[in-house]
Amino acid sequence: MRVLFTGGSGKAGRHAVAHLISNGHRVLNVDKTPLELDGVDNRIADITDAGQMYDVMSSYAGFDELNPGTGAPRFDAVVHFAAVPRILLMTDNECFRVNTIGTYNVIDAAVKNGVRKIVFASSETTYGVCFADGERKPDYIPVDEEHPTIPEDSYAMSKVVNEATARSFQRRSGFDIYGLRINNVIEPHEYEQNFPAYMANPEVRRRNIFAYIDARDLGHMVDRCLAVDGLGYQVFNVSNDNHSVGTPTSELIERFYSGVPVKNNMAEDETFYANGKAKEMVGFSPRHDWRHHLKD
Ligand SMILES: NC(=O)c1ccc[n+]([C@@H]2O[C@H](COP(=O)([O-])OP(=O)(O)OC[C@H]3O[C@@H](n4cnc5c(N)ncnc54)[C@H](O)[C@@H]3O)[C@@H](O)[C@H]2O)c1
Repeated sequence: MRVLFTGGSGKAGRHAVAHLISNGHRVLNVDKTPLELDGVDNRIADITDAGQMYDVMSSYAGFDELNPGTGAPRFDAVVHFAAVPRILLMTDNECFRVNTIGTYNVIDAAVKNGVRKIVFASSETTYGVCFADGERKPDYIPVDEEHPTIPEDSYAMSKVVNEATARSFQRRSGFDIYGLRINNVIEPHEYEQNFPAYMANPEVRRRNIFAYIDARDLGHMVDRCLAVDGLGYQVFNVSNDNHSVGTPTSELIERFYSGVPVKNNMAEDETFYANGKAKEMVGFSPRHDWRHHLKD
């Protein structure tokens, strides 16, 4: 597929773009900074500028596309990752502005240019646990897509708004628009760097509901979303099958989730961030478990 990818130069995007390229897709990366990767063309553009988003949406993805003399082809899909990726990087209102206006602009330009598949990055933070002031427990575990999304911080609020924006564009267009409630993204080098500390003190993973997603598995999820059509508007939790700490699930429940309803019998290392919907509907199948990446 010919894919316009926003935010492909970032932590998550560069792995997802690499995965799409290796699976034979053509990718134009739209970002404020370029991604140096063979086979990828970059367009420096700002998602908060509607004019720029309209421009890139009908753009050539490289010089070779001038050769047929038939104009720029239409993109088959848009993957929208560009964002301010958490609180405490910019002011709260700037984070909210960039993420909400940026997402409106990207989806609006895509829909009006007839791009029938849009995949966008939402977040685990929508469930309100991650950036709560003090400790907030989930309403129930495992947390699935039916769990309420009432966060109290500007970043997660922007993602909840983006989901509403996407849902409305889907209703008008009838196109497929899938939102990914991505859990904490882990790059390959971060296993040895971070996970020993997670084993020593599981408390540090409480705000992530103890979950994570390998950046390469996230790329695989994006690819699955491109492959499966006809689902309309959907949101999917994206996480590994297992949690990110060395403590058994039953012990974590006892220590951290006392009083929280447990909806089903959970396996020894099972994630509290349910990924069954993605598996069932688009064939998501995460392969990179942290235990395979630590030497001992
Ligand atoms: N990293 C995580 O753990 C995580 C978890 C859940 C959701 N997400 C979401 O996934 C997406 C990617 O996150 P990431 O960790 O790769 O973030 P990142 O900051 O590493 O990458 C974001 C990219 O977006 C670009 N960008 C920012 N503002 C822009 C603008 N106005 N115009 C054009 N480009 C702009 C940046 O240059 C950067 O390359 C984001 O939407 C983020 O909210 C990330």
